[in-house]
Amino acid sequence: MHVLKTDNLSKIYGSKRGISHEALHHFHLTVNKGEFIGIMGPSGSGKTTLLNLLSTIDVPSSGKIMINDQVVTSFSQQKLAKFRRKEMGFIFQDYNLLETLTIGENVLLPLTLNKVKVKEMEKKLVIVAKQLGIDKLIHKRIMEVSGGQLQRAAIARAIIHDPSIIFADEPTGNLDSKASLQVMEALSLLQDKQKATTVMVTHDPFAASFCGRVIFIKDGRLFNEIHRGDNRQSFFQDILNVQSLLGGDMNDLQTVRF
Ligand SMILES: Nc1ncnc2c1ncn2[C@@H]1O[C@H](COP(=O)(O)OP(=O)(O)OP(=O)(O)O)[C@@H](O)[C@H]1O
Ligand SMILES: [Mg+2]
Repeated sequence: MHVLKTDNLSKIYGSKRGISHEALHHFHLTVNKGEFIGIMGPSGSGKTTLLNLLSTIDVPSSGKIMINDQVVTSFSQQKLAKFRRKEMGFIFQDYNLLETLTIGENVLLPLTLNKVKVKEMEKKLVIVAKQLGIDKLIHKRIMEVSGGQLQRAAIARAIIHDPSIIFADEPTGNLDSKASLQVMEALSLLQDKQKATTVMVTHDPFAASFCGRVIFIKDGRLFNEIHRGDNRQSFFQDILNVQSLLGGDMNDLQTVRF
């Protein structure tokens, strides 16, 4: 069963001088329920463009996106905003947590916005905070915790309202290897235990090796797609191999962390 499906998705960025750039070319993607998909590719290949379209933050030049069998590309702005709040979770490279709130208040934001009852919010907070290993931190301020803890708080916030799909943009981009490992373990646990559906853009082959499938984009087109078997380490190697085939500027230091 699929959660998300795109049909002939294209994005052409225009410019005032009449020069346009096709960042995504007739792209097809199906994301099944419970899948953890990584999107990789050289700098400028269209990864962020794709993620912004899938998460309805930007609109395609042509083509359709269906989420839960609804054509979201024909929704009104208002309907989209509501749909995003209910059905999507977001994880960003720089966490996007609010400094004026505690960790717990940040995690609760999606429920606050969706007007959930206080009792239920408290119950959910305890569950997700435990799950992400941040239960001791819920009364702390943003300044008082580490990057890895902030990102796990951001993951808790992304899942607390049980979204249909989670979008992550370089979630390990600001983290050291130990914090990256914790964050990636947390994300894969979500997938194993709760059948969470996640689409993650990353430059980091280590992070991508936790995915079940990695798609590689080049010049706005699908270049290759690889699936993980039982062994994450060999998948990591497969990812490196495709990257070297892809060539170009992967614009990141590819640290080997085994
Ligand atoms: N708002 C915009 N207006 C015009 N061109 C854009 C715009 N956003 C992106 N582009 C161009 O579209 C192409 C794809 O950009 P995109 O940001 O999707 O790449 P990316 O794969 O995310 O790269 P990176 O790894 O550097 O983040 C690039 O050539 C970029 O210059
Ligand atoms: Mg990008």
